[in-house]
Amino acid sequence: MNLNQLKKKAAWAALDYIYPNTIVGVGTGTTIFYFIEALSTVKNLIYGAVSSSSSSTSLLKKQGIKVFNLENFSSLTIYVDSADEINNCMQMIKGGGGALTREKIIATMAKKFICIIDKTKKVNVLGKFPLPVEIIPMALSYILQEMVKIGGIPKYRKNFVTDNGNIIIDVYNLYIKDPLSMEKKINSLPGVVTVGIFASRSADVILVGTRNGIKTINKKSRLKEIEKH
Ligand code: 5RP
Repeated sequence: MNLNQLKKKAAWAALDYIYPNTIVGVGTGTTIFYFIEALSTVKNLIYGAVSSSSSSTSLLKKQGIKVFNLENFSSLTIYVDSADEINNCMQMIKGGGGALTREKIIATMAKKFICIIDKTKKVNVLGKFPLPVEIIPMALSYILQEMVKIGGIPKYRKNFVTDNGNIIIDVYNLYIKDPLSMEKKINSLPGVVTVGIFASRSADVILVGTRNGIKTINKKSRLKEIEKH
């Protein structure tokens, strides 16, 4: 089974978490492409979706799923998205697709964040995947310098403008032992719009597509496991 088939498995499994008569928060990326396909099969049972990117918005519309503007809502029942990396505490690196800011807004507003992944995204320590940081263009040199100070090797993502009109720096060579404090530290730099560490808003449920089916990891059961040790 190839990676796309595993992503598809996880994406379809997320349908079990969709309640009727709700508005579903929808992430961005190749895994979400499969989720939008799956969601279209229940589109008559839900009101519609809020989207984390213009690319997901067009996919949703193509599937005949109504897209609502987020500014009209203050909370959501569910957010479904993938990740570039996820650790044992359900903290993530996101933003490989460049939609991290809108993803973080919707994830934070949602009561439940369902993270759908193939097994390659599970890691012990975040940082092997280059950390995306969305910044205001005029802060480029300053943020490049600050990323070097924290031990990273920053690279400007060429020919890429976010849906918010900003740019992205991908930071290589990080070993993020304390994602919460690293998230706070990078977010506090002037010029940073959003860092792609999702630690203060981690996932609630992980659905991992594997050859043998779906592995479900719940935040509560994970916390109980940690407490036991
Ligand atoms: C986009 C994201 C995606 O969730 C992440 O990049 C994973 O993407 P894919 O499903 O294509 O592997 O954060 O900004």
